[in-house]
Amino acid sequence: MKSINQHQAFENEKSLHTDFKEKMTYSDYLGLDTLLSSQRLLSNHHDEMLFIVVHHVSELWMKLILHELNSAIQDIQTDNLRSSFKKLARVSQIQEQLKSVWDVLSTMTPSEYMEFRDKLGNASGFQSYQNRLIEFALGYKTEYVLKIYEKDPQLHQDLQEAHEAPSLYDVSIQALARAGLPIDEDVLNRDVSITHKSNKSVKQAWMMVYKNVDQYWELYELAEELTDIEDLFQQWRFRHMKTVERIIGFKKGTGGSGGVIYLKKVLDQYFFPELWELRTEL
Ligand code: HEM
Repeated sequence: MKSINQHQAFENEKSLHTDFKEKMTYSDYLGLDTLLSSQRLLSNHHDEMLFIVVHHVSELWMKLILHELNSAIQDIQTDNLRSSFKKLARVSQIQEQLKSVWDVLSTMTPSEYMEFRDKLGNASGFQSYQNRLIEFALGYKTEYVLKIYEKDPQLHQDLQEAHEAPSLYDVSIQALARAGLPIDEDVLNRDVSITHKSNKSVKQAWMMVYKNVDQYWELYELAEELTDIEDLFQQWRFRHMKTVERIIGFKKGTGGSGGVIYLKKVLDQYFFPELWELRTEL
């Protein structure tokens, strides 16, 4: 005999929509035909599916990070800091997701990866243009990705524009100046297509914020959100480097770099140098 709850569930099922000849389904809405047919394996090796899916998932999260970062940049430019905090906090949560893909990928052993690595040719995450767009949005401006995508005029132009646009850090420094904190003119009028270098007036301004938290509460909150993002970006880089070492040791990368040696070097890169320096001096 059916219980009352089971009976209710059965009745509910009868009212489920199943006629979709004229209506949009879940998979239509999400474009799942394109998404789920994009895992095109180049070998017969079982683990290549893992390798591709982990990259796809990472690129999707990067897409959302860019969406949030670019919107947060506009918020800060228009002194809408509160609205930017929500987006920056979301970026940090997405970065947590990005970091955990390494746990899944590490289940692949060196022997398994070696069975299909040669199929990749010179393709490498080094050429991930979304990763470079995130770096541009955070303020680390390098040019090689522009060269790599010269063959795609639209993408090349988008990359060029992002390369020349003010970063999250540039607009944050402008916000410090608008709050009345003295910032050197050459920092405020600098060429934003070049990576920002640590500057004394910027450090002093952040110091003021950290020493007068109540007076500058929003800028203080902004500084901590930026620090979260940089911290998590470095954690992602570290986990990438260690996963790569675990899987290919010190072999050269498919992108042509020195592999782990190169990945260790980029760990020294800072997006928001003054925010880290001030911690020693406070
Ligand atoms: C078995 C897995 C992986 C290996 C062995 C690997 C290896 C490497 C190596 C050696 C580099 C340095 C450039 C080169 O010479 O190729 C690199 C760069 C990079 N990889 Fe991976 N990678 C793996 C997985 C991933 C995944 C899942 C992502 C996520 C999108 C990723 C994203 C990147 C990015 C963004 C760079 C550029 C880093 C920079 O220039 O700062 N990699 N990878």
